Amino acid sequence: MFKELIKKVGMAVAPELTLELLSARSQKLIIEIEERTGMLAASHKFVAEHGRTVLRGPFQGLRYSERVARERNQVHRLVGSYENELYAWCEEIIERQYPVLLDIGTADGFYAVGFARRMPDTRIIGFDTDRWAREATQELAEENGTGNVEVLSMCSPDWLHRNLEPDTLIFSDCEGYEMVLFNPNLLPGLLECDMVIELHERPAPGVEKAIRERFEGSHDIRMVTYGEHDPAEFPELEVIEPEMRAQAISEGRGGPQNVLFLTRRQAN
Ligand SMILES: C[S@@+](CC[C@H](N)C(=O)[O-])C[C@H]1O[C@@H](n2cnc3c(N)ncnc32)[C@H](O)[C@@H]1O
Repeated sequence: MFKELIKKVGMAVAPELTLELLSARSQKLIIEIEERTGMLAASHKFVAEHGRTVLRGPFQGLRYSERVARERNQVHRLVGSYENELYAWCEEIIERQYPVLLDIGTADGFYAVGFARRMPDTRIIGFDTDRWAREATQELAEENGTGNVEVLSMCSPDWLHRNLEPDTLIFSDCEGYEMVLFNPNLLPGLLECDMVIELHERPAPGVEKAIRERFEGSHDIRMVTYGEHDPAEFPELEVIEPEMRAQAISEGRGGPQNVLFLTRRQAN
């Protein structure tokens, strides 16, 4: 309760700093959990056998840096199970070759740099309020020789208001902040863009309904729901102990989660 109050006050007074502090805390927690559960050790085993290059999916061939592969469980991304419900949409985005792609919440840069490799003429702007994530994304861009990725900190309505260009693809996974960002009443430029938005109902109750209502007049809206993946579908996982395989590719969602793909009706 007290923590929630501090967070609320922090977000109202200094949102960027508050998010930076909160994400540093959650990065620390992730590292502790991955070490304690043996997930990191399983990931090292996987990398020792199969390397640190993504094996399948739209970002096949994307190569992780030595540091990120050492610090984080990367098995789900490397084996090609991670959010594979979005693969068809990723290919659609790549085919469409948007001039600008915003990736809001880059984490280690999987999408920002994955798209950058496949869309070399697209200007990719990644945002993350977390320092580790920004450094990891830069490193991934360097490792893969992609010169079309810029990495910024917070994506705010103000930034979008000043910089959003028509025909941009916005790829968003920002932990509930989508409720604030995706409001065409405040940011009419969004009506000229296509958007993939991961929905976070827990921090932003009612967000799916709100976003559908805000864009139902202007966009076609498709939805997928993330589910669990079957380790048996990925033979490379055999290097990991059987009891660790499901956990190594788990995305830790604690339940189904929806993602929307909004494409402008008039432009498609
Ligand atoms: C779950 S992670 C993103 C994972 C990434 N989509 C992936 O699948 O690899 C969410 C990230 O969003 C960042 N974030 C949250 N709100 C943000 C905002 N307004 N601007 C930039 N980054 C934000 C957090 O720091 C966090 O790293």
